[in-house]
Amino acid sequence: MAGGTIPPIPTVPASERCPLRITFQQGFQLFIAVNLVFLLLVLLCSLFLETQVETVRRDDYQNNDVQIPTVDIDSLYADPRCDFNRTFNISVKPKFYSVCHSRSVPRTSVRDYKVIVIWTRWWGVRLWGVQDHYCPSMPECVFTGEREQIGNADAVVFHYHDTPKVYSKLAMPPTRLPHQHWVWFAMECPIVTRLRDLVSYSGVFNWTMTYRNDSDVLTAYGSASLTYKMLKEMKKDPHKDYALGKKQLAVWFVSNCYKYLPRFAYAQELVKHIRVDVFGQCGEVVCSKKDFECSNNIIKQYKFYLSFESYKCREYITEKFWRNAIQNKVVPVVFGAPKTDYERYAPPGSFIHVDDFESPEVLADYLMILDKDKEKYNQYFRWRTHPPKSAVPEDYGRWCNLCQRLHQVCPTERKVYTDLDGWWKGKDNDVCEPVVLKDNSKDPMYAIYFDENNK
Ligand SMILES: *[C@@H]1O[C@H](CO)[C@@H](O)[C@H](O)[C@H]1NC(C)=O
Ligand SMILES: *[C@@H]1O[C@H](CO)[C@@H](O)[C@H](O)[C@H]1NC(C)=O
Ligand SMILES: *[C@@H]1O[C@H](CO)[C@@H](O)[C@H](O)[C@H]1NC(C)=O
Ligand SMILES: *[C@@H]1O[C@H](CO)[C@@H](O)[C@H](O)[C@H]1NC(C)=O
Repeated sequence: MAGGTIPPIPTVPASERCPLRITFQQGFQLFIAVNLVFLLLVLLCSLFLETQVETVRRDDYQNNDVQIPTVDIDSLYADPRCDFNRTFNISVKPKFYSVCHSRSVPRTSVRDYKVIVIWTRWWGVRLWGVQDHYCPSMPECVFTGEREQIGNADAVVFHYHDTPKVYSKLAMPPTRLPHQHWVWFAMECPIVTRLRDLVSYSGVFNWTMTYRNDSDVLTAYGSASLTYKMLKEMKKDPHKDYALGKKQLAVWFVSNCYKYLPRFAYAQELVKHIRVDVFGQCGEVVCSKKDFECSNNIIKQYKFYLSFESYKCREYITEKFWRNAIQNKVVPVVFGAPKTDYERYAPPGSFIHVDDFESPEVLADYLMILDKDKEKYNQYFRWRTHPPKSAVPEDYGRWCNLCQRLHQVCPTERKVYTDLDGWWKGKDNDVCEPVVLKDNSKDPMYAIYFDENNK
């Protein structure tokens, strides 16, 4: 579907733009033009937007010449996807973005499949080999990397690291249709993305796609939902002994050795009390970079894996938890996001959080108790055969989540992040715990190494 001829890119009539401020006079004209219900919606919308003081507008793509074919807006009031009451609930004022509704919807946005253009690379890599690969479970989405398809796109994805450090119009699509969702995509946490000047991207993106639950599209490193789906296909044995054959105690693969990362003070204390085998750049190099088969085979021989995140940021739970520990059937000892975040995302009873222990030494004692008591140790695998009674939040994987969201959103809804930076970092920069950051953090003089003497 993504192939074939490309229709000319229509430009946008002024009436299609989501007004950021609506004067009374304009409102009056609208009153004449449209029905009373709509007037009410627009006025409420303007109330929202009046509160966005420093709003940057990025509509310099659009001009007024061409009419796009539209569908009857009245039908959308009955659309179950369009909960106008909720959108215009005055008591909930979004701080970082604004939401309003458009009066007309182009025909393309109500066709039964969605086109997603992946505009940038992802860490320099082109994502678009085989398009079906992205979301096989939802064939009603077409993913493409062909930028010429921009006129057909329902969503356009931008990976944060592959956009310019400071917003530049030249790096963005030359035209922008009002129903298109421009999606800001990031898997890293705010400390890692700090070199992007997100203030300069104010007013650019409609949606965010990150690991955080307040994103428009969830792109977590793993989830209870996906984990249980995977388990469904496997044979279950509630009496399986997960300690069997594991001769070693605790293991850690770690390659970002910057000594000011908060995890190192903790780990240095921990290794004084129990044996931890440290592999990777900060320990013994045994597997080449990205050779996960090699590291997984080692990890499986241990009872515990140190899933210590580099940064303590809200909800930032990475492959250190999901791939290295959970998938290898090893109990993760977690350090990073607050325990309540792990409780929401992880399978129940699947992990040991360092915050539950007064000190690394007390944690070490506890791990040694579990080492000797296989009943207790196996409790950490009970979730595999006892899924939670309450529903696990759905996760279809990042690309299918995006596809689903495009189909679920009310076609008239218009949203834009007027303060992406504030949303991402928190109004008081409180999303992450601060870290001492040096410009030359890769300098060996700032590196920490765990060698045989630590064991
Ligand atoms: C929206 O609110 C109005 C008045 O408060 C109510 O009559 C109507 O049923 C509501 N619509 C929906 C979809 O909840
Ligand atoms: C508006 O939001 C408040 C607070 O979240 C909620 O209590 C109230 O029920 C909402 N009203 C409507 C009409 O959805
Ligand atoms: C989303 O995460 C925040 C913490 O970052 C938490 O307080 C909130 O309850 C979560 N919301 C949902 C719906 O899970
Ligand atoms: C996305 O944001 C732009 C810029 O504010 C706006 O013109 C457009 O209508 C928005 N699209 C959607 C689907 O929200």
